Amino acid sequence: VQIGVLGGTGPEGKALAVRLASVGIDVVIGSRSHDRAIAAVEELKAKWPDHELPLKGADNQDAAQAPLLVIATPWDAAASTALSVAEHLDGKVVISIANALARVGDEFQALIPARGSVAVHVQATVPASRVVAAFHHLPARALGAIDRPMDGDVLVCADDDAARAEASALVSAIPALRPLDAGTLSNASAVEAFTAVLLGINLRYKTRATVRLTGIEAD
Ligand SMILES: NC(=O)c1ccc[n+]([C@@H]2O[C@H](COP(=O)([O-])OP(=O)(O)OC[C@H]3O[C@@H](n4cnc5c(N)ncnc54)[C@H](OP(=O)(O)O)[C@@H]3O)[C@@H](O)[C@H]2O)c1
Repeated sequence: VQIGVLGGTGPEGKALAVRLASVGIDVVIGSRSHDRAIAAVEELKAKWPDHELPLKGADNQDAAQAPLLVIATPWDAAASTALSVAEHLDGKVVISIANALARVGDEFQALIPARGSVAVHVQATVPASRVVAAFHHLPARALGAIDRPMDGDVLVCADDDAARAEASALVSAIPALRPLDAGTLSNASAVEAFTAVLLGINLRYKTRATVRLTGIEAD
């Protein structure tokens, strides 16, 4: 399956794109600017010359033609970006990875977006799509370092079980990452807000920890 990453030219979008491409998944990096998307692809290919990376660049409109989409814009642009490609979204799984955060001094503070979470706001903005919340806790630097495994748990929230399964299969395609069924989209508010806690821990401990839950046998 091909993945379109809208707003994929930032650190997190590029990191997710290159990680997925490193396991052979076709990814189209989308941007408001076709040239920026091409530049992002060239940058990633130049950084990892020894890897066959099935990456392409396109504007967000073209990238949105992929059957499975990720929105990797800043949180306050996620819904408007989804709306800008709404004609391509009917029935499609759209993965929201955005965290609404403000940096206040040495701390990250969670903001409460309209409707409580970015994911629910996107779902309300493009109701014909099937929004899944996932990937919030994977730091771009570690995710993009494809010479090392990216391990951790990915909390996956969705109202549509088939959509959650599709997104979870994408998580499972990345070795050492484990998708966990984290319930409906109403839990996205907690998942997104928890990122403020995690980033604060990473600042204080000078590390890049992600989430790993203990006590779950199945994977
Ligand atoms: N950084 C991390 O470690 C991390 C970890 C987990 C989740 N996240 C989440 O991932 C998302 C992306 O993070 P990031 O640090 O990569 O973000 P970013 O660099 O600030 O933005 C990503 C891309 O979004 C596009 N964009 C910016 N403003 C926009 C607007 N007003 N409308 C439409 N597109 C716009 C830009 O692409 P073009 O100019 O090319 O269109 C930009 O390169 C965020 O929502 C963040 O909460 C980040």
